[in-house]
Amino acid sequence: MKRRTLLKTGAAGFAGACFPTLSLAMGSADEASKAEYDYILTAEPAKARIAKGGDSDILGFNGQFPAPVIRAKQGKLLRVLFINKLDEATTVHWHGIRIKNSMDGVPHLTQPPVEAGESFLYEFTCPDAGTFWYHPHMNSVEQLGKGLVGALIVEEETPQDYHDVVIGLKDWRLKNDGSYLPLSIPREAFRDGTLGTIATVNGLQKPTIEVPAGERLRLRFLNMDNTRVFNLSMRDSAAQIIAIDGSPIDKPVPLDVHPTGAGMRLDVGFICPSEIAKEIPIYDMKGRFGVEICRLKTVAPAKKISNKTGIPALPVNPIPAPQLASAESLSFVFEWAGALSPSDAQGQVDHNFWLINRRAWSDHSHQHLPEPLAVLSLGKTYIFELHNATPHHHPIHLHGLIFTVLESDKKTITPFHTDTILLEKNERAKIAFVADNPGKWMFHCHVIEHMKTGLMGYITIA
Ligand code: C2O
Ligand code: CU
Ligand code: CU
Repeated sequence: MKRRTLLKTGAAGFAGACFPTLSLAMGSADEASKAEYDYILTAEPAKARIAKGGDSDILGFNGQFPAPVIRAKQGKLLRVLFINKLDEATTVHWHGIRIKNSMDGVPHLTQPPVEAGESFLYEFTCPDAGTFWYHPHMNSVEQLGKGLVGALIVEEETPQDYHDVVIGLKDWRLKNDGSYLPLSIPREAFRDGTLGTIATVNGLQKPTIEVPAGERLRLRFLNMDNTRVFNLSMRDSAAQIIAIDGSPIDKPVPLDVHPTGAGMRLDVGFICPSEIAKEIPIYDMKGRFGVEICRLKTVAPAKKISNKTGIPALPVNPIPAPQLASAESLSFVFEWAGALSPSDAQGQVDHNFWLINRRAWSDHSHQHLPEPLAVLSLGKTYIFELHNATPHHHPIHLHGLIFTVLESDKKTITPFHTDTILLEKNERAKIAFVADNPGKWMFHCHVIEHMKTGLMGYITIA
């Protein structure tokens, strides 16, 4: 077992494609056998220059933003020693990993909170390769909003012939001088959520990311924002979607515009032009022309590149196929409790605006867990009929499992795997999965304010 420590990389190191981890030379074999983790990860207050006009007080994994990219190998044990250097409790959740329940990082539900000054050894195997991410599951508006979000890349058992480029998206609620605006505004929280004011890509505003000319790229987009939907597009450049939310699709399809909600990812294959200094803009298509979020720029490759043609499909992950004929259907309705006033009699903000099946998750009840939304039998296939009965979109996420999207009343679906489904306003959709992972699994909207104001629950698989 190799022991690695994360290097502190500056933002500049991040704009490129490689994310160095420092391999420590092993001492004695004895020491090697004692190495108990692959990464040391801290959560700690730090300063970062996000806004042009001044530093911001952020919360950073290893004190940095962007956070270190954690790389794991499919099917191999990953051990991350997590140290909480915040002045409050937290946890780390590994989004999209079909993990064992005790490592899922949900306070009270799967583990006790990691108190300030304490540490916790996260130790798990990633059965699926792909683009995943990690973040706390406590005080999330603030902890994620101030920077605790990072990419988790699980490499395929057989290396793929792609050059990796991680594109981490996160907006910040900052003034120009670097001080914070309120992270959540109640009237926004009961609509689409409070949007950021400064957009960053790998920690930089509208960066130019250097990529090797003539290479075949795997652009790994991660929407790690609390709120925003990115309608990702490369417009006229011939790019292909190769994976959605970590899960490869059977056959790559051209990327036109792909709506990517909070928490969601998109892997795009793209063959770089072989000319040097060619620039390729990437857009969030809102409005007619879209807004550029960053651009790629070709540079002379470090090594000679043999001619790349075509965008090969990635190997599929070992997700069990749902047995639809014998499946049980359960229905989940997402609603807004419009009758609730956002303030109670004491003038306190009432944090429950959103409901799943007429129930709101109350943040105060973390210590006294509510009943699960459903109890599923281990090994059986379930179809969830989802109904978004609100005039807002919701990226609905299930922990611990990867499901198949079967159909929607708003669009034609070619069934695909995912861990998060972006439900449009008033959309009804069906998803299915084999309940093969025992435990208590959160089921929530990934618009962080929505989850914090009710749109959260869990299912039990036993
Ligand atoms: Cu990114 Cu509860 O999840
Ligand atoms: Cu998750
Ligand atoms: Cu939502």
